[in-house]
Order: sequence, then C-alpha cells, then structure tokens
Amino acid sequence: MREFWDNRYADVDFAYGEAPNEYFKEQLFKLTPGKILLPGDGEGRNSVCAARSGWEVDAFDISREGKKKADQLAEKHKLSINYQVGALEDLTYPPNTFDVIALIFTHFDPKIRAQYRKEFIRLLKPGGLIISESFSKKHLALNSKNPKVGGPKRLSF
Ligand SMILES: C[S@@+](CC[C@H](N)C(=O)[O-])C[C@H]1O[C@@H](n2cnc3c(N)ncnc32)[C@H](O)[C@@H]1O
Repeated sequence: MREFWDNRYADVDFAYGEAPNEYFKEQLFKLTPGKILLPGDGEGRNSVCAARSGWEVDAFDISREGKKKADQLAEKHKLSINYQVGALEDLTYPPNTFDVIALIFTHFDPKIRAQYRKEFIRLLKPGGLIISESFSKKHLALNSKNPKVGGPKRLSF
C-alpha cells in the first residue's frame, strides 16, 4: 500500500492537482477556523487550502513521497503544515484536540477502519465535525467499465 502511493506521488505532477477537493473546500469555508486534522492527506492539496484559510493544520499519511509534495506545495504558498509520515497507530495526538477531522477519499483498509473511526471520535473536541467524501458503491460498476476513473477496485475498500 505504502509503495503504491509512494510510486503514485513520485511523479513531478500532482496526482490530484494542487487545488483542494471541491466538497472539502465548500464545507470548510462555512466554518470558523480552528484546529483541523487531515488523515491520509496525500500531496497536501487539502491541508494547504486549510492552512491558507487560517486553520491550524495537522496532517498525516503513510507516504513519504506524499509529504515531500505537501511540503513543496506549502512552501509555494509560504506557509508550513504539521504533516507527519505514518499511520494513525504510529502517531500520538491528544484527545479532544480537533474542531474538524477531514477524511477525503481516504478509504482506509477495512481491517483498521472501525478502530480509526473510534480514535477519530476521541481526537475530536465535543461538538467537533467530520468532513468526509468517499466513493459510492456504484463507483465499482463505473470503474470496471473504465479503469481510468481510478478508485477502489473492490467493495471492501
Ligand atoms: C486517494 S488518496 C487521497 C489523498 C488526499 N486525501 C486527497 O484528497 O488528495 C488516499 C491516501 O490515503 C493514504 N493512506 C492509506 N492508508 C493510510 C493509513 N493507514 N494511514 C495514513 N494514510 C493512509 C494513502 O497514502 C493516500 O495518500
């Protein structure tokens, strides 16, 4: 998994572009800036958008190449983000810390998903929000017709 994403992000181009995910941006801009965590942040398009909008940002991803691109993007905008390389179980965040946790196309391994969900709730402040966008089950049919659309190839992902 890590190797797959490292290879994907090793290219000079940004795999998902430098602009943030549209849904993420739309939801984020409705909120007053506070502390946000972006798990599986990839090349940083969403964390950099949040930092540019005044949020205090923490992000993590298993991909070292993802972090390199995120640092590059942050530098381009003359800001810094606290981006760590690792999976949630390798990192320590204090409980009741974040106003928002954003899960944008993270589709974590099903074996860890339930545990991550519990942990994310623990890391959110009371009344905190989760912004999430993920694939619909219908995406599989689309994917089998045209593999270029990307995304999970199995229902379990
Ligand atoms: C489809 S990409 C989405 C990247 C980013 N959220 C975006 O919207 O541009 C999924 C990301 O999840 C990361 N990932 C997968 N499993 C992970 C885990 N257990 N912990 C942290 N990151 C993980 C991958 O390395 C990859 O960057």
